[in-house]
Parts: sequence; C-alpha cells; structure tokens
Amino acid sequence: MASRYPASWLDELRSRSDIVQVVSGYVALKKAGRKYWGLCPFHGEKTASFSVDAEQQLYYCFGCKAGGNVIGFVMEIERCSYHEAVELLAERAHIPLPQMVEDEDYERRRSRRERLLQANRDAARFYHEMLFQPAGAPALNYLRKRGLSDAVIRRFGLGAAPDEWTALTDHLLSKGYTLEELSSVGLTVVKSPEKEGGTVRSFDMFRNRAVFPIIDMYKNVLAFGGRSLGNQQPKYLNTADTPVFNKRKGVYAANLLRQERHLDHVILVEGYMDVVSLTQFGVKGVCATLGTALTNEQARLLRRFAPEVYLGYDGDSAGQHAILRGLDILQEEGIPARVLDFPDGLDPDEFIRRDGAAGFASLPALSPTAYRLRRLKDTTDLSDPEGRMKYARSAMELLLSVDPVERSTHMKALQLETGFSMETLQEQLDSLRHSTAPVAEKPKPPRPSVRKSGPAAAPDLAAQETLLSLLATGQIPKDMVEEKDFEDDELKSLYMSLVAGASSASVMDAAPDDEARSRYARILLSPTADSTDQLISMATQCLSRIRRAACQKQFDALQQRIRSMDPSDPAIPSLLMEAQEVQGKLDKYK
Ligand code: GTP
Ligand code: MN
Repeated sequence: MASRYPASWLDELRSRSDIVQVVSGYVALKKAGRKYWGLCPFHGEKTASFSVDAEQQLYYCFGCKAGGNVIGFVMEIERCSYHEAVELLAERAHIPLPQMVEDEDYERRRSRRERLLQANRDAARFYHEMLFQPAGAPALNYLRKRGLSDAVIRRFGLGAAPDEWTALTDHLLSKGYTLEELSSVGLTVVKSPEKEGGTVRSFDMFRNRAVFPIIDMYKNVLAFGGRSLGNQQPKYLNTADTPVFNKRKGVYAANLLRQERHLDHVILVEGYMDVVSLTQFGVKGVCATLGTALTNEQARLLRRFAPEVYLGYDGDSAGQHAILRGLDILQEEGIPARVLDFPDGLDPDEFIRRDGAAGFASLPALSPTAYRLRRLKDTTDLSDPEGRMKYARSAMELLLSVDPVERSTHMKALQLETGFSMETLQEQLDSLRHSTAPVAEKPKPPRPSVRKSGPAAAPDLAAQETLLSLLATGQIPKDMVEEKDFEDDELKSLYMSLVAGASSASVMDAAPDDEARSRYARILLSPTADSTDQLISMATQCLSRIRRAACQKQFDALQQRIRSMDPSDPAIPSLLMEAQEVQGKLDKYK
C-alpha cells in the first residue's frame, strides 16, 4: 500500500500505538505463552483463535485468517480506510499528522495539543462540579425542568457556567494555563490590549448557561455547547473551530457511541438536547451533528459505529429540508439510511416526552425513496388532476433508480393515490428510461474479504513461507538466503523488506492488499524455535527443500524440451549436458 506518510512518522505512530492496548479496546485478551489470545472480533467463535503478538506487533486469527499490524486491525474493526485508520491512531496517541508539522517543532505541537485538551478537560470538570453548587443552581434547575434525571446529567457530564464574568478563567489561570491557551480553545474571550486602552481584559465565553461538553470517541473533550437558561439569544453558544476542534468532523456523543458495540443503526438528530433526552428514555446509539448540516466526514465517522444511519431530524420544515440533503450525503458515501418521521413538527425530544419510548419504537423508519415520495406527495395537490399528473411523473422519475422490488410496492401505492393504471405507470417508466440515461449511482467497491486460505499447499511453497518466518526472527544470517529462493512476487517482496531491515509491523503496510496482509501475518506469526542453532538448522532444511524443488522443476522443464525437439536438432547435446548438471545438483540435495 503506497503511503503518503513518512516511514519514520509511521514507525513513531506504531510505537505509540501498542497493538495489545489497541486491540484490548475491542477484544478481551488473555496472555498465554508468547502471545495474547481472545475471541476473534471478525468472525463468530466460541474458542479463542485470535492471537496478538506483542513482540512483532501483529495480530492473526487462525480461524478466519484475518491478520495484520495495528493499522490493519483498526481498518478492519472500524471498517475504515488506511488513512482514516492512521488518523484515528494518531488522534488516540495525540500525534499530529505529519503534513501539518515541520519536524523540528513536532514535539512542541504534540505537547501543545495535549495541553489544550487538558484545559478543556479541566473546564468540563469545573462546569460539572459547579452544577451541584449554589452558583450552578439555575442551570441544574433548568435541566431538571426539562426532565433530565441526575443519572443522565452525569452520564453526559453536563455542567453549569455560573452567571459570573471570570469564574472559569480564574480557575484555569490558577491551574497554570495561560490566557493565550484558554483563548485558543475558545473558553475565554480576550480583548486585545489596544482596544481596551492598554489593559488586557478577558472573560468567560460561557456564562449563565447549561453546558454540554463535546467529547470524542477517545474521551478527549474537544469543545462545548452552552444552552441559555431561558429565552435569551443566542439559544445555543457553541465553541468555534479551534486547534483541537473541527465541528464538521465530529458528532456529539461520540464517546458514548463508542461504548455501544453491535449497534444495528445510529440515530442522527439535530440537537444536543435530543441526544440526551432520547438516551434517557433508553434509545441506543443516538448522536447529533454539531450545529451544522451533515458533512461527508461525519457520515464516514458514523459508518464506523453501525452499518446503517437513521436520520431523526426535527419535524419542522428546516429539519425536513436537512433530511433530503443528509440522504444525499449518506448515499454518496454508500451508507444505507432511513428516516424517522416525527409527526406534528415535533423534534425528537418533544416527541418522546409526548409519546414515550413505546411511541418512539413504533415510529416508521422510512426508506429514502419512501421518504422522498412522501415529500413529493405533501407538496402536491392530489385533489387536482394536474397535480396528480405532476405527482405521478415526478414519482416515476424517482423510482427509475430504485430496485424493482421496492419500486413495485411504491407503484401499487401510486396507482391508488393517482388513479393511473399500472400499465400507464409502467409506460411512463419505460419512456423515462429511454429518454433520460439513469443517474448512475456511484457503486462503492465491496470491501475486499479476507482470504480464507490456509498455509500454502505445495511443499516447497510452504518451505518458502517457513523460511521467511525464520528470517523474520532476525536470527538467520541474511546471506544464507537469496531472492530467487522465493517463487511469487508477494514472497519476494516480503523477503526484500525483511533483508532491508523492516520490522514485521512495517512490512504489513507494504502488503498490496488484504489477502497479502493476511498471508504475511500468518507467515510472520508462525511458531518458531527457541535457539538460534535450531532456527538455522530449520532454515537449512527449508532451503534445501526449496532449492531441490527448484532444481527438479528445471530438470523437468529441460527434459520436456528435449523430448519435444527433433532428434537431429543440433542444440540437443548442450541441453543434455545442462540436464546432467542439474541432475548432479539434485542428487546433492537428496
Ligand atoms: P432545545 O430548544 O434546547 O430543545 O434545543 P434543540 O435541541 O431542540 O435544538 P434546535 O433544534 O433548536 O437546534 C439544534 C442544534 O442547532 C443545537 O443543538 C445547536 O447545536 C444548534 N443551534 C440551535 N440554536 C442555535 C443558536 O442560537 N446558535 C448556534 N450557534 N447554534 C444553535
Ligand atoms: Mn428541542
């Protein structure tokens, strides 16, 4: 896999992303011998055949043959791309991405990022503690009046920004943060000295508000949303983008989503309050965008949490418009979606308070097509013949790109609604199909499946693989082995990487595809002997098997060639000599 990251940076990333620790975030591991073992997260199993090798920093499942280094593991489990996996690990380890940093101030940036995140964490703690003190009483009352339980308040770490100018700023300054740091993360507003006649004046960004900390999946506090306690405007005050926060990239409650495994779908809503409220009613997998419309990056983030996304936007007209846009984005990213249709212009919070968890559970989850058709119907006057025609035409256009099974269901409904016969609708469809080339949906390539291959079948190929696993121990003299001892390109390139001194984990990144990665992991994790002498003697056996097999092939080829030739061919004598030589070598190996 070609990589845009410098090798040294990737080494650093891998060294700070211990595979045992990373895997332990998903799989319960037990140490046995040199390796850690657990139940494979990639296929259902009852006995542990999933292994992690701390020394080589590789994982391999003997059941489903999935294998690779820490980056590959994250790609598989998060269902994300190589670059996303690298970014995720960098985030987790607080390592800035290389294109953003000049080498010399690399360490400075990393520690700055850590400090800024720490300031946010301290602020979140301050706000949360404040909630249960007299200065936070108005915010606590507000949250309770909105029906929130203490349990859910704690779960989301909600807080109170007191009605004072510098409560938080004073607190954080006393903890050693600088005004510059506090202003960079948007906690403190600093007026420039010129404007204020020489004296720097600064005050808290959030005052007299209920505070929603925005926490990412690694529990970093990135930003805050502050709700006014009444009708004061703005209703919500949100942290603007900062060096540690990009509102287009994250979602609210990612930290809680992360803890849910095996979600069928995530529910994306518009407001922080909707997330908290639905969660309190026991709805799982709820999150919200951060005050913007859904972005492609957020859609890809959601895909990591569940295979399907439900849009649970407000039932008002702005929400309805946002749904259409959201559906387009999800479609672009190849993510299956459904729409939760809230009645009476209610938002999710209002709805679940009115109709309860049961009402929420029985809400229809519309397919994108069903939703778009509904919108079309709502905006046309079906009592008017013109309207019915217009509706039928637009509906058939929509149905053009839908699979036949779903289409036929909708066509039946359309027949009833418009009064046009099935034949007429079908004719309309046919004529549309010929007049407009159907909008080509960009098909997403299916994820390459992990090859279900066992160890190599041919004995000499098996010997080549064993030889590589012996080489990977670093205890075999490198000049014992040659490139031509390996038959196929994958093994040759693995050999070249190993003699060049690449670590097992870094070799994985050079694997051309998933299958090669699985093969490499299997080879590199094969059990090996303990002493160097044993290793060398095993390598010698492998080598003689490989070289004998190569000789045999050469001999067979020569023989075949000679047989196929005209007996009077003048080239025969020299070929016979060659064959004799090869025969001699063959005898030596026996
Ligand atoms: P409640 O009135 O507290 O129930 O709010 P809500 O959860 O129903 O939120 P609403 O649908 O009004 O807004 C959805 C999201 O848009 C909020 O969570 C905020 O992120 C954002 N938002 C709403 N109002 C404002 C505002 O006045 N300013 C800014 N910057 N963002 C807002
Ligand atoms: Mn609301």
